[in-house]
Amino acid sequence: MPKTNPDPTPASPDKSGEARASTRQLTINGKPYFHDGDADMPLLWYLRDVLRLTGTKYGCGIGACGACTVLVDGKAARACQVTMAAAMGQHVTTIEGLEGDKLHPVQQAWIEHDVAQCGYCQAGQIMSAVDLLARKPRPSDADIASIGNLCRCGTYPRIRSAILRAAVLSGGATS
Ligand code: FES
Ligand code: FES
Repeated sequence: MPKTNPDPTPASPDKSGEARASTRQLTINGKPYFHDGDADMPLLWYLRDVLRLTGTKYGCGIGACGACTVLVDGKAARACQVTMAAAMGQHVTTIEGLEGDKLHPVQQAWIEHDVAQCGYCQAGQIMSAVDLLARKPRPSDADIASIGNLCRCGTYPRIRSAILRAAVLSGGATS
């Protein structure tokens, strides 16, 4: 069972748009938030327990599985290993913030290839794929393998196919 923050900062003190110390501000999915609570609290706790952005999952809590992967300033990061202090001033994107007017190409490719099985790891897989394609628009098999997110259901072949499809949808690959 996923651990929960034993002393979560309530959502109510986090008010957007107020002039408060910038060192306590971070941006999540394009919206500003202020955090006055525990600076050592993992970002994952804040996302799930305070903001109720539960698309980001808790798996291992030790940075090993990737279920909690989000983007921090555009780069994949394991939210269970990022403290709130480290997140201050950063732009965080979660799976809830990936979609704009239409599905992100990675999300579209995931649907086309019917990647998810139980689904638990999939938000993290998608966020890692977004990061990979930003760095490597034409990823090799080795690039895809380097992601390192774990899937207990063994969806790796479909993840690979979906990433290659997302590369095409994103214009990074021609076939
Ligand atoms: S829960 Fe963060 S890496 Fe596993
Ligand atoms: S789809 Fe079940 S753990 Fe990956």
